[in-house]
Amino acid sequence: MAQKFTPLERRRFLSAVETETTDGSVMSPLASCEVSVLTGFMTVSEKGLARLAKRISSWTAGASQVKPCATLVVLSGNLGSGKTTFIKYLARAFKIKSKVHSPTFVFVHEYHFPKSNAQFLKLIHIDAYRMEKRSDVAATGIKQYLKDPQNLVLIEWGERISKWIPKPDLTIKFLHHTPKLRKIRLLQN
Ligand SMILES: Nc1ncnc2c1ncn2[C@@H]1O[C@H](COP(=O)(O)OP(=O)(O)OP(=O)(O)O)[C@@H](O)[C@H]1O
Ligand SMILES: [Mg+2]
Repeated sequence: MAQKFTPLERRRFLSAVETETTDGSVMSPLASCEVSVLTGFMTVSEKGLARLAKRISSWTAGASQVKPCATLVVLSGNLGSGKTTFIKYLARAFKIKSKVHSPTFVFVHEYHFPKSNAQFLKLIHIDAYRMEKRSDVAATGIKQYLKDPQNLVLIEWGERISKWIPKPDLTIKFLHHTPKLRKIRLLQN
């Protein structure tokens, strides 16, 4: 099981999401920090999301070292709130070359990490939006994926199948805020 976020990790995440407001001005990291203290949610532009993905890539790499099984991240939030966009930026942060596409109809996509990555072999991207029963979940091969500590498993709409999967190491909640901004909350187990 991964460690709880340290105060330093929290500060790193918060400082990544200093973000543009709707009028184009830049919100300071401190402002993001204050938002977080009050509500637990950070306000992020797409650029801020890319920076946050980079910080989370470093964190997941560290978290995977203390686990005997895969690292599991659940992304929750409604349609168009930024889950796939985050995974695209995370893949980019890990220098994964293939283009990330949403696996809404096929349920699961596999991507290979570059050989230079010492922790992970595969990024497994699952979309649970259309999953209704346990057999839908099992059909993705998730059980096998979760056994391997060299897998990073990311599940969009993971809250829909929470009773059939283990507790995630990290849950990222996305809320639509404005056309260009999202509210994001990180919850660690
Ligand atoms: N601050 C932001 N963060 C994330 N996405 C943003 C932001 N601002 C605008 N967008 C845009 O919002 C859209 C988010 O779409 P995305 O496919 O990532 O959503 P999703 O949560 O995966 O939706 P679905 O539930 O349908 O899979 C993208 O077109 C992205 O460019
Ligand atoms: Mg999506």
